[in-house]
Amino acid sequence: MDFNWTKKDLLSLYDLSREEIVHILDTAEEFKKVSQRNVKKVPALRGKTVVNLFVEPSTRTRLSFELAEKRLSADVINVQADASSLRKGESLLDTVKNIRALQVDIVVMRHSAAGAPNFLSRELADCSIVNAGDGAHSHPTQALLDLFTMREKKGRIEGLNVAIIGDILHSRVARSNIWGLLKLGANVTISGPATLVPKEFEKIGVRVCRNLKDAVKDADVINLLRIQHERQRTEYFPGTGEYAKFYGINPDSMKYISPETLIMHPGPINRGVELDSAIADGPQSVILEQVTNGLAVRMAVLFLVAGALK
Ligand code: CP
Repeated sequence: MDFNWTKKDLLSLYDLSREEIVHILDTAEEFKKVSQRNVKKVPALRGKTVVNLFVEPSTRTRLSFELAEKRLSADVINVQADASSLRKGESLLDTVKNIRALQVDIVVMRHSAAGAPNFLSRELADCSIVNAGDGAHSHPTQALLDLFTMREKKGRIEGLNVAIIGDILHSRVARSNIWGLLKLGANVTISGPATLVPKEFEKIGVRVCRNLKDAVKDADVINLLRIQHERQRTEYFPGTGEYAKFYGINPDSMKYISPETLIMHPGPINRGVELDSAIADGPQSVILEQVTNGLAVRMAVLFLVAGALK
């Protein structure tokens, strides 16, 4: 892997070149092999300290970052936002400056405010910032693990037909997937209620399709999204029952979906809304493999950004 990685932060796939994305995926392939060994640990981040600062709830992302850090032999500190001085009104910048004063090397951060990791990255030149999801903006490691899973299962990204279904408007996962997939040459279709899937997305090169059947019938991959109620100021559709009827994937919709199509979901799943349990737990689902691959991808990202720190 002869590639000179220079970025100390991972903020968004929008900022990365095609070559940089491919290099992360190639590096993750090597780290996946580490997790298949008897001894699942390497000394790559020995002597480095990583703080996980999650100011929004998370299960998969937080657990797999912590496990990735431990597998790389880093020292790990988890900040409980609810039990920190953020609760007393301390600003995010002051919080991270104090963390930095303890000579921490990497801050992995999830925050409800779009752009929060970019802000910290500009303020803190000598510390890596890794975005674990910021508002409706970006979730780069989720998109990378999605790309990794597609490439592993289908052998390529270029030319794949990928349908992303659901709440595109409020989804950082959708945005990050779209940026990564377009850079790697996939054909992207998005579908969902008009209020959640505006036509404006066509300007960035994706196909907008209102009818679920048209969106998925030629898809190699279907990536389903949760309705992001926590980011909606008003209700954007009549109800979950109606959503499930028109945009949910269930045994009836599988009649017009190829048996070769991968079913993906970033989690957490609203079972019976965007995805029926029979499909989520069925043979075409790779949802738990996405979680497994997230570990390898996060090991790769931490390893690369730490190497770029001066
Ligand atoms: N996919 C994802 O980000 O899940 P969590 O919110 O549980 O981390």
